[in-house]
Amino acid sequence: MDNLAIECRQLTKRYDEQSVVNQVNLNVKREHIYGLLGRNGAGKTTIMKMILGLTAPTSGEVLIFGMPLQRNEKRLYPRIGALIEKPGFYPNLTGTENLEIFAKLRGTTQSDAVRKALDVVGLPYQDRKIFGQYSMGMKQRLGIANAILHDPELLILDEPTNGLDPIGIAEMRAFIHNMSAQFGKTILISSHILSEITLLADDIGILHNGILLEENTIAELEKKNRKYIQLEVSDAAKAVLTLEQDFSIKDYSVQDLHLLHVYDTSLDMGKINQALIQQGITIISAQRCNDTLEDYFRKVTGGEGIA
Ligand SMILES: Nc1ncnc2c1ncn2[C@@H]1O[C@H](COP(=O)(O)OP(=O)(O)OP(=O)(O)O)[C@@H](O)[C@H]1O
Ligand SMILES: [Mg+2]
Repeated sequence: MDNLAIECRQLTKRYDEQSVVNQVNLNVKREHIYGLLGRNGAGKTTIMKMILGLTAPTSGEVLIFGMPLQRNEKRLYPRIGALIEKPGFYPNLTGTENLEIFAKLRGTTQSDAVRKALDVVGLPYQDRKIFGQYSMGMKQRLGIANAILHDPELLILDEPTNGLDPIGIAEMRAFIHNMSAQFGKTILISSHILSEITLLADDIGILHNGILLEENTIAELEKKNRKYIQLEVSDAAKAVLTLEQDFSIKDYSVQDLHLLHVYDTSLDMGKINQALIQQGITIISAQRCNDTLEDYFRKVTGGEGIA
């Protein structure tokens, strides 16, 4: 599909006999922020490395802007910027000097590319501090500046808030948001922190043990996790008619023949019960549910939490 910036088809990576990425179909829409969420060792970095051609898939393929990465690297790489693990900066050179080198290597033609990139991440231009003396947060910012040096359409950022203090995290979030909202960039970020992803991303992929368990919009996922009343009834289709006609309830979903989720939680259950009985519908059970995204994440990963 041509509205996809990244498409992974059955992407698989095995080390020895272990599948660390297993038949992943991941779809990043153009101009969206996609959050790849997974616990340590889930396979996030490995997927990103395959998307960047830094490690070869065991099987499956990666398409970027509709083109297979293989055979099209030369055309595609200038359109991608990445921050993945530790960029190899020279410790005895300043940030500006480091970026000047990367700009040359990449054949960046814009003369003020380095100054602009440093400006975006809030690092001083022509500062005398050498990279070896940078704080963790400054190193991370320089990594981002390096990723955006050539003004790529697609940014791939592996845990970009790693090592940042709370203010740094908020700034990084604002930066990513701005790159998307103002400049229309497509951004794939990874994180092991659910709240970080839900604050930023339009879409989310939940990765666990190398398997993409779910891919969805944040909006859909939040809808799944709204408060609702679960009604187990003898006939869901008939019950819905009563709810709509007698109570003007429209915000519900039919789960199966007997199960309904009603998202209006201020219902008068007594009245509803009465009305349903009058229609010959039996309520087998009614229960208020309040799943949070956090609960959901635990449920799908089968784990005890992620943050
Ligand atoms: N070169 C390698 N050789 C063998 N196993 C590897 C190699 N690289 C990664 N792995 C394994 O692949 C699995 C996934 O690793 P990966 O780094 O992709 O996870 P991750 O989701 O990025 O984790 P984290 O949140 O800790 O960064 C891990 O079990 C890891 O040990
Ligand atoms: Mg990683």
